[in-house]
Amino acid sequence: MSAQVLLVEDDRSIATVIGEALREEGYEVVPCTSLARRDELLATGRYDLMVTDVMLADGDGLTSLGSVRDRAPDMPVIVLSAQNTLDTAVRASESQAFEYFPKPFDIDEFVRAVGQALARPGPGASEGRDETSQAMPFIGRSPAMQGVYRMITRVLRNDLTVLVTGESGTGKELVAEAVHQLGHRRTGPFVAVNTAAIPRELIESELFGHERGAFTGAVSQAIGKFEQANGGTLFLDEIGDMPPEAQTRLLRALQSGRIRRVGGRQEIAIDVRIVAATNRDLQAMIADGTFREDLFYRLNVVPIHLPPLRERREDIAALARHFLFQAEEEGLPRRSIDDSAIAALSAREWRGNVRELRNAMFRVALVSRESIIDAGTIEDSLGQSERAGPAESKGGLAQAVERWLATTRPPDGTLYHQAVAELEKPLFAHVLERTRGNQIAAARLLGINRNTLRKRLTDLDMGGFRRE
Ligand SMILES: Nc1ncnc2c1ncn2[C@@H]1O[C@H](COP(=O)(O)OP(=O)(O)OP(=O)(O)O)[C@@H](O)[C@H]1O
Ligand SMILES: [Mg+2]
Repeated sequence: MSAQVLLVEDDRSIATVIGEALREEGYEVVPCTSLARRDELLATGRYDLMVTDVMLADGDGLTSLGSVRDRAPDMPVIVLSAQNTLDTAVRASESQAFEYFPKPFDIDEFVRAVGQALARPGPGASEGRDETSQAMPFIGRSPAMQGVYRMITRVLRNDLTVLVTGESGTGKELVAEAVHQLGHRRTGPFVAVNTAAIPRELIESELFGHERGAFTGAVSQAIGKFEQANGGTLFLDEIGDMPPEAQTRLLRALQSGRIRRVGGRQEIAIDVRIVAATNRDLQAMIADGTFREDLFYRLNVVPIHLPPLRERREDIAALARHFLFQAEEEGLPRRSIDDSAIAALSAREWRGNVRELRNAMFRVALVSRESIIDAGTIEDSLGQSERAGPAESKGGLAQAVERWLATTRPPDGTLYHQAVAELEKPLFAHVLERTRGNQIAAARLLGINRNTLRKRLTDLDMGGFRRE
């Protein structure tokens, strides 16, 4: 007998598409459009799978899943939703839904998920669901953010290591906090370390702690971040800025699950979930020898990439409103924005991503005299859009490149290499001057591999600086 699928969906066009696709695969589909009808059907029939929408005329398909589980404990459930917030994604995962599809979704991917759900045993009624619906920190329902929300929900009930990447200001720290706050370790501590901000000679003791007298200045014993985070989550921010020795120590700790305080004898077992983040290109750093490849693979178990704001412009309106609201909460006057302002905001580049937008909205709320902000106010308080030309963020270097391009006109097909060489020469000369020709020290200052530096110097005919 073919599998019976109960489809709870009040949007007729979606129900039709799903019904056709599943019947084509040989499944039997029983559609209904309300929770009341769903419960009647479940009371009288047996279904192998339920596909359900969230917002239905007579209630919420997710909150009412408990009663479904009572009737059909082993039936897998696939959740569809047009809500597309992190909240819905999390609730779907907490309800032990087999899969969650934000609308619109790819019908082939959906059919594949149905096949997988039917091939697997159901979640069982034994696991009680826990109630955690808290205010979700994330704003934005763009398809790009859907991917992020989905990845977050996949790590909430395990301790897999997460590597969050993305440009500065895209929300990496927010992801780390969400993974902890929504995950099963939420009752444990959340400890954040910004590895870029610690002097390199202190990193080891910061991470692993030290015993009294371990080094000059170690007047008492100190517990490191790893131990502080025991039972919870350790957020290693700016991991790409970690110096090589610290990378090696970190790798060893991650491999063994144990740490040793500086100056200590005893190894201490640690139980932490690691979330690491960086805005650097770790692959490129591996290529030039500044980031350990083995550490990268240890960290990159579950990659979560945050797309830059300019690649999810549909989120700008909601974010802008959200930040105006925040500004009001912090005592700034109440402001709202009209469509022309949204259009003006959406057209901007936002190199500083969500953080820049947040700061911009606070500034707008502060300076605008009108209670409704329009495009004119935006341009007045934020300046002309960067699209037009050089932006305020564009420093002397970018201008120099433009001048260079305009005056030198290098032949086509060599542009990149010529431009890079043009930048490298004065940079290397300056750094080698500072290190008195010491290439090892220069490579360290530059943050590149010494062999890479040596090779570039030869290529650029600057080998004469070699004085080692
Ligand atoms: N989707 C979002 N919804 C609401 N607020 C957001 C969102 N994304 C980022 N923010 C806010 O934008 C600011 C920057 O975010 P965050 O500090 O997480 O960025 P980041 O990626 O860690 O940046 P950096 O690489 O510079 O450390 C914070 O105030 C954060 O709360
Ligand atoms: Mg950050």
